[in-house]
Amino acid sequence: MTTGDASQAPDSILVPFDPTRTSIAPVYDWIRAGTPGKDAFRVDRDAGDAVLKEAPWLREVLRENWLFLERAVDLLAALGIDQFVDVGAGMPTKPYLYEIARTKQPDMRWVAVDNDERVVINWRAAPGGDGVFTVAADVRLPLDLLEKVVKHIDLSKPTGFVFGALFHFVHDPKELYRIVATFKRVAAVGSYFVVTHATQQTGRDPAGAEAGAQRYREKVADITLREEAELEPLFGAGCQLTHGWGRTIDLLQPNSGGVWHDQEAPHALAAIAKMI
Ligand SMILES: C[S@@+](CC[C@H](N)C(=O)[O-])C[C@H]1O[C@@H](n2cnc3c(N)ncnc32)[C@H](O)[C@@H]1O
Repeated sequence: MTTGDASQAPDSILVPFDPTRTSIAPVYDWIRAGTPGKDAFRVDRDAGDAVLKEAPWLREVLRENWLFLERAVDLLAALGIDQFVDVGAGMPTKPYLYEIARTKQPDMRWVAVDNDERVVINWRAAPGGDGVFTVAADVRLPLDLLEKVVKHIDLSKPTGFVFGALFHFVHDPKELYRIVATFKRVAAVGSYFVVTHATQQTGRDPAGAEAGAQRYREKVADITLREEAELEPLFGAGCQLTHGWGRTIDLLQPNSGGVWHDQEAPHALAAIAKMI
């Protein structure tokens, strides 16, 4: 595989670790966990709390997002997928998705990819054991990313690609389609893509979703909410949408651990697509 990503892509990549500045992953982690003792600094907690003020339901959205990813990884492992690439992995979070995969695929391999140095440091310290690898890369340079990933897994075999709460950080739709097209080009038939994405569409508080997104842009990072119609073309040609697009809460029949009440549907969309 050669590098040579499209010219619009940024040259640089890693978000350097600086405890005086916040970044996406620790704020996300703080909002989701909401308990002291997590790896969040004051700036991360302040930013997360400011966003929660506008969108107090966000904590549940993030928890439901994780529950969906757990169900999706469990399903893929049950279908025989034994190697995963978790792009935009975020801070290592319990229950670890690789442990869920390992329950059904004891020899599975898991590659956690992120462009935030703080995340990478945390993954390198995570108790993954054999078969869990960390890659520092930016999804906007997908060939560079994949070149690093193939040091750990064999992409000629079916692979589970997980893009949890990542694509709303890629703002230009053309760039997003280009990224997904690159993954589709290298993914073997039988591979799966698992995606979750922030939306203003499905929840009962669209105004709060917009206000929360605006506060998030001010405090953390730019974010692009998208509707189902904008996401649907991502997995057209070469793929079959096996689940979704739909609300994270609905897909794969939520287990009893769900924290959301149906009528309060979350502002998050999800889908699983298979390479055919
Ligand atoms: C909101 S967190 C989601 C974490 C986890 N996947 C989940 O769904 O709970 C998004 C993660 O994507 C990472 N990220 C953002 N932009 C990225 C990029 N261009 N390339 C790689 N990772 C990126 C962030 O550092 C962060 O860890």
